[in-house]
Amino acid sequence: MASEYVLEMRGITKIFGPVVANEDVNFKVRRGEVHALVGENGAGKSTLMKILFGIYQPDAGEICLNGKRAVIKSPSDAIGLNIGMVHQHFMLVPSFTVAQNMILGVEPRKGITLDLAEAEERIRELSGVCGFTIDPEARIRDCPVGVQQRVEIMKALYRGADLLILDEPTSVLTPDEAEELFEIMRTLTHQGKTIIFITHKLREVMKTAQHVTVLRKGKTVTTLPIDETCEQDLALQMVGRKVELYSGKDEVKPGEEIVKADGLRAMDKYGRWCLKDIGFTVRAGEILGIAGVAGNGQDELVDVFMGLKKLSKGRIEIDGRDVTGKTSDVIRSLGVGYIPEDRYERSMIRDASVAENMLLGFERDERFNGFGLKTDAIKKWADKLIHEFDVQPPLLDVPAGSLSGGNAQRAVMAREFALSKRVIIACQPSHGLDIGSIDFVHKQLLDRRRKGYAIILISSDLEEMLYLADTIAVMYKGELISSFPNRDVDEKRMGLLMAGVRDAEPEEEAR
Ligand SMILES: Nc1ncnc2c1ncn2[C@@H]1O[C@H](COP(=O)(O)OP(=O)(O)OP(=O)(O)O)[C@@H](O)[C@H]1O
Ligand SMILES: [Mg+2]
Repeated sequence: MASEYVLEMRGITKIFGPVVANEDVNFKVRRGEVHALVGENGAGKSTLMKILFGIYQPDAGEICLNGKRAVIKSPSDAIGLNIGMVHQHFMLVPSFTVAQNMILGVEPRKGITLDLAEAEERIRELSGVCGFTIDPEARIRDCPVGVQQRVEIMKALYRGADLLILDEPTSVLTPDEAEELFEIMRTLTHQGKTIIFITHKLREVMKTAQHVTVLRKGKTVTTLPIDETCEQDLALQMVGRKVELYSGKDEVKPGEEIVKADGLRAMDKYGRWCLKDIGFTVRAGEILGIAGVAGNGQDELVDVFMGLKKLSKGRIEIDGRDVTGKTSDVIRSLGVGYIPEDRYERSMIRDASVAENMLLGFERDERFNGFGLKTDAIKKWADKLIHEFDVQPPLLDVPAGSLSGGNAQRAVMAREFALSKRVIIACQPSHGLDIGSIDFVHKQLLDRRRKGYAIILISSDLEEMLYLADTIAVMYKGELISSFPNRDVDEKRMGLLMAGVRDAEPEEEAR
């Protein structure tokens, strides 16, 4: 008789040097369900899934698929066993079309030439099955993140996946896109597919999953049917103690203007205008929130601000100094802390140690450098930072690239908060963080606001925006289409503005 469980992982242990990432983990998933996997940053979720997908080999334990022992030595073994994985960082080729990406590595052939027509046909067929459509000829670089994610999902299905692993799929999506993803997940499970869903948002767990497994510090805490638990209970199980959230915000009277941007214009790498005459000011003790669906020019705005991209026109001032066209070194030396969205790519050297990463931006600081690097001083200081921000594991010598998503985020934040004197730019600061850590980061930002920092917050999380920002500006197709004090806004109006609807006049849809 076929097993009730499509997947059973038993006694899985995985050790990385001093870190026990998974310890005797048991994880069983029923066919046709959405099974949520939750836990704090560094609890071992991604590691367990990478073992299932053949990226890592466990040090102990076994995996059974449909009741049969399975040996998964590589991702191609996993794919052969009908397992698919959508990573948080997509692995698509931007200049290729949807169809070309879909068939990479499994190209259907006609003689010696590629049979793209057949691939496009299969994609149309799969679109019907999944309940979403994708234009096979669209180029990935022109597709919004939500669509790229669907391409990843369809790519896994194209390779025959019955068991689909989604590692934090919603952290890159807007609330509407997340809803659409849940609909797709429902459609797929109705067809007998099984989905393992990693998320930090417990509301999403309650909404989509039939079972949930909680990991804490590498061990399985419990597996529960969804109707026997609730958000508070899950938070408690994850953290092991009660978590208090959203403590409220002080009144702060904004002071002098610290950041001034005027008439900013810039082009993207394809020669299209991505910033069209943008202007704003941020005062001491003020958080300016820039809201908007990703891809409407927010990244480019941050890049020109940080000196990472050339302006065609316009002027930027920090603390009365004209910094237009200055390099990012100069801008950082003025005390601008920068938390980029893509921490791994932009603000860490993966192969360097955590301690060395904490030094980035402080290389010329005389506390750490003078007749050579002062190793002891650096270690002491890096140690203080990682303890303050509770980076796990609290080890200075491990490569930064081995930190879990959320812990990498905390390490970058610890450094940037230490570096900043007057200004902080925080891009999606809570992406990938567990609930306790989000609260911690929010408190840090509010603390700097109280100390008179000018803060620019870029976030697609409306709840976060409404909680933190004093002023909210909405970005749409390279323009700031509206700007208003937080008290004048509600979520519905924000949603409309983000879709480009200004003054109740519908605009052409964003592509
Ligand atoms: N390749 C690696 N080398 C060394 N340590 C690693 C490696 N991969 C993971 N770890 C460690 O294993 C632990 C678990 O990491 P994992 O990425 O599984 O956590 P996670 O639950 O996915 O966390 P997050 O929510 O932050 O993504 C962490 O302490 C991490 O530092
Ligand atoms: Mg992870």
